[in-house]
Amino acid sequence: MADRLGDLLAAYIDRINAGWALDETEIAREHPDLAAELIGDLRTLMQVRSRREGSEPLGELGDYRLIRQVGRGGMGVVYEATQVSMDRRVALKILPSGVAADAKTLARFLREAKIAGKLDHPNIVRVYGMGVDRDTPHYAMEFVEGETLAQILARRRGAGEAPAPEECYRLAEAFAGAAEGLQHAHREGIIHRDLKPSNLILDPTGRLRILDFGLARLEGQASLTQSGDLMGTVLYMSPEQAMAKRIQVDHRTDVYSLGATLYETLTLRPLFEGKSTQDTLSRIIFQDPAPPRRRNPRVPADLETIVLKCLRKDPADRYRTAEALAQDLRRFVRGDAIEARPEAGWERLVRRARRHRWRLAIAAVFACMAVAAGWLALERARSERKLDLAHYEPAIRVQAVKIATGRFSVDVGTGLGDLLGLMAIGPIVPLTPEEFR
Ligand SMILES: Nc1ncnc2c1ncn2[C@@H]1O[C@H](COP(=O)(O)OP(=O)(O)O)[C@@H](O)[C@H]1O
Ligand SMILES: [Mg+2]
Repeated sequence: MADRLGDLLAAYIDRINAGWALDETEIAREHPDLAAELIGDLRTLMQVRSRREGSEPLGELGDYRLIRQVGRGGMGVVYEATQVSMDRRVALKILPSGVAADAKTLARFLREAKIAGKLDHPNIVRVYGMGVDRDTPHYAMEFVEGETLAQILARRRGAGEAPAPEECYRLAEAFAGAAEGLQHAHREGIIHRDLKPSNLILDPTGRLRILDFGLARLEGQASLTQSGDLMGTVLYMSPEQAMAKRIQVDHRTDVYSLGATLYETLTLRPLFEGKSTQDTLSRIIFQDPAPPRRRNPRVPADLETIVLKCLRKDPADRYRTAEALAQDLRRFVRGDAIEARPEAGWERLVRRARRHRWRLAIAAVFACMAVAAGWLALERARSERKLDLAHYEPAIRVQAVKIATGRFSVDVGTGLGDLLGLMAIGPIVPLTPEEFR
């Protein structure tokens, strides 16, 4: 199902969404066999940026009779409508006509929507179909009463009402359902790639349902249309999406984004808030999340552990599947012991050390040199019988530590773990012989 062209296209769109320019020569060099098609598709999608439409006049579009506008997103306008031939109520998303300009591109997206149309799960909003009428692509889905998490969050942020413990349990249960929906899609080989509060809708029965499956490729691109909106799109991106390297993005990207959405729902604050899009992206890649309980102390500890496991930088450290996440959330709701473990201090150190391997190696060399220098100085002092050993030894150890950690100055009593941590993050600035004394 997943073809190489589709995968590459998806990877390049991730890159563009993360702020990279479309580099046609690079594409031609790296994928000569598919370059023409890739570049064609990407160009068409870029054009969509400039063709964003205002609201469509109400009326008829193909098989659909539009009733009222219910929402407007980064790309399209969503209407409540009636599908005349089936006499059913639908939500009809109308996309900018520019998308239809390239038949082949459109065919690809129609196919993606068609695959999404096969998904049948209580936590996924049904896709009825996608088509083009009067040059206007449209995407029809089940109409869901309720509010998206984006709407709920906006309301609660205004009122400053962070969830209390009982509500955390209800949310955990709702998100367990969404994770099961995800699992269903993943089993069919479909990754959402654009999970965020506005793509999760809470229906009147309390069921959380996933919107916009099969549209991420198209919409991810279109959100570039509004410069201010890029920020909104990157907020829930996984580190591997944010890095926009040719790292394979797989189903675990959805586990992350669902976790980022749960995090925000529990704390009312986005996981990372950068000063700019670039800043946010770099935080997604490098910064450890603030524990949810620091932002809302009413979040139960186990739920915090679950959320943080979804948000690990390395996909291999997250839940292996959306199902595993769903099961842990259900355990939490039942009051059973959860499977996730909080990351221990030493694990965090090892992870940071891995990330700063080079600095650590250099630091280790300097540390050895410092210890050797200190030892030599001691030996000389001892032979000259001028110094009181007991007095100088600790001071030399302090200097060794200072050398090893650059600008960090630490106490003699610093434990080995902290020392390693500091060495991993600190710039290495050896002291001059004068300073050493
Ligand atoms: N199937 C649906 N049923 C009811 N309302 C919907 C449905 N799909 C979308 N909406 C509403 O339309 C809004 C716009 O959706 P969309 O164009 O996907 O933008 P975004 O996800 O960027 O907010 C949503 O936030 C939601 O309020
Ligand atoms: Mg949406």
